[in-house]
Amino acid sequence: MEDKGTLWLPEAASTVAGEIDGLFYFVYWVSVVLFVLVVGVMVYFAVKYRRRSQADRPSPVHESKLMEAAWIVVPTILVLVVFTWGFKAFLKLEVAPPGAYEVRVYAQKWSWRFEYPNGATSSDLHVPVGRPIRLKMSSADVLHSFFVPAFRVKQDVLPNRYTSVWFEATRQDTFQVYCTEYCGTSHSGMLAKVVVQSQDEFNNFLAEGMVDPDAPPAERGALLYTQLGCNACHNVDGAAGGIGPTFQGLYGKQEPLSDGSTVEVDDNYLRESILEPNAKIVQGYGPVMPAAYTNLSEEELNALIAFIQEQQ
Ligand code: CUA
Repeated sequence: MEDKGTLWLPEAASTVAGEIDGLFYFVYWVSVVLFVLVVGVMVYFAVKYRRRSQADRPSPVHESKLMEAAWIVVPTILVLVVFTWGFKAFLKLEVAPPGAYEVRVYAQKWSWRFEYPNGATSSDLHVPVGRPIRLKMSSADVLHSFFVPAFRVKQDVLPNRYTSVWFEATRQDTFQVYCTEYCGTSHSGMLAKVVVQSQDEFNNFLAEGMVDPDAPPAERGALLYTQLGCNACHNVDGAAGGIGPTFQGLYGKQEPLSDGSTVEVDDNYLRESILEPNAKIVQGYGPVMPAAYTNLSEEELNALIAFIQEQQ
């Protein structure tokens, strides 16, 4: 089913989208009809009752009880319809159906990380089609906001508390996730995808998403590099203009720091930079790396450093 959306709304791919869109179009068409009516009558009266000469005085207008009642009753009904419709949709959006599949969402400057009940993690959200998904979200630093236009869901993501949102995707496709709360330099680049899959494909994804503890460290590090969102700021192709220094050719290099000194990039420097990002700031970069990696295990640190070491 091809659905590229309309002039007003993006493609729709969740169970609540129909209701939200219906309400939007109801408000839209009521506004169009009232606008045309009001402006039409206004123009008609302006022409009909224009003053033609100095002596041309309009006769006084007397009240009409019927018209007065009409313009009180009709808007009141419209407002109550919109309120009832909107409140019902709001409640539906707020309360996840029982038995919804829960995914943890970690937001941080400037990436998303999704964690599944079996412990697998990913930087794009994978979900099975036709099943209610509840996201339990929190932020490691500042306010972010999780927004999937195609699902018509948007929810702020806060530090120090959980917020949640739920949806049920209606077809298999890939949809865009945006951050819709200004969160600093790379706010506009804080993107992810929702990959809606069949239950079988999703199960395979879950199995593959686990970090294999027997894989070589650099291979585990490569997986962590994307799963932890390092790739949002540190590229491995040497391209300039990244938020953090590139990993290409980093290991073993003499790195100039913002205080004018120079440091050799070795295991201990990398370890410190991951655990305490602000201890040493590389020249030309800001102190913007989140302190979100302080809980990495020794194995994870080792794997990441091995991965960085390989990027020559
Ligand atoms: Cu995160 Cu804007």
